[in-house]
Amino acid sequence: MTEVDLDVHRSAEDITAALRADVREGLSADQKWLPSKWFYDARGSELFDEITELPEYYPTRSERQILRREAAEIATVTGAHTLVELGSGSSEKTRVLLDALGEHGTLKTFVPLDVSESALSEASNAIAADYPALAVHGVVGDFTEHLGLLPGQQPRLVAFLGGTIGNFLPAERARFLRSVRDVLTDGEWLLLGTDLVKDPNTLVRAYDDAAGVTAEFNRNVLRVLNARLGADFDPAAFEHVSHWDAGAEWIEMRLRARTDMRVRIPGADLEVTFAAGEHVRTEISAKFRPEGVRAELAEAGFGLERWWTDSGGRFGVSLARARR
Ligand code: AVJ
Repeated sequence: MTEVDLDVHRSAEDITAALRADVREGLSADQKWLPSKWFYDARGSELFDEITELPEYYPTRSERQILRREAAEIATVTGAHTLVELGSGSSEKTRVLLDALGEHGTLKTFVPLDVSESALSEASNAIAADYPALAVHGVVGDFTEHLGLLPGQQPRLVAFLGGTIGNFLPAERARFLRSVRDVLTDGEWLLLGTDLVKDPNTLVRAYDDAAGVTAEFNRNVLRVLNARLGADFDPAAFEHVSHWDAGAEWIEMRLRARTDMRVRIPGADLEVTFAAGEHVRTEISAKFRPEGVRAELAEAGFGLERWWTDSGGRFGVSLARARR
């Protein structure tokens, strides 16, 4: 079997310490919140994969349609020697890019980066087995912290797909794009997937499917707190909410307490009370307009070279170049 390099920048202790800090901050706040990255333990990653196949959840299919259509163009324009994929998860869509870049003949190295070691090692091994000529160098880390450590020969193409950039608040987003720009050399590339603003009903349903998979995914963050911090959340005591914030143009996922509750979280040295109806914000998923994407990229030091949408105009993919 082909060998896979795996750099692990975060030990189990680091992860628990980061979770503890986030839980102490978010659940002591007036308006309770938790960062969405904590959905993704092994079960959370599985549930997300299920979400991508739901009839209501269009982003994955829309983006895949664009990548299939434009992969050869992406390979020709970038001539990338390294493909870096941030938040790679199961790396399913990546294969479309790997095929096109492989055919173009320039690609040598694939660098998937993800917080979930289980998802990353599984995906890295599968890719290495199917692309024997490719060097696979996985990085287990947080893409807001470990960008400086990206291996691979230039020119590199950094792919940040799925619309995950929407999980950042606007200020975090600007900082993140700037940090990607800062690790790239002039002329290197960013491929960015952004979900687009559309009618609220479609958006709300994409985050509140009839089969209840997204609700389970949302409640999974409580199971992560139970497992990692010894908390005693009853996930069934929280209702899943998908809310469109028309002013901010983002979807908010929330967990709403069905009754008054007191929850112990020994691993965070914390006891939290909930009033019936009180909610915890567990995710924002911002939706974009083409002009906004171009402006944010420019602000971060990227020039937009290509902009594509799917046939339904639901999702956008940008190919941008690092410039001075
Ligand atoms: C993987 C972050 C892009 O925001 O749409 C799916 C996660 N949350 N359903 C998104 C998610 C609820 C997803 N991203």
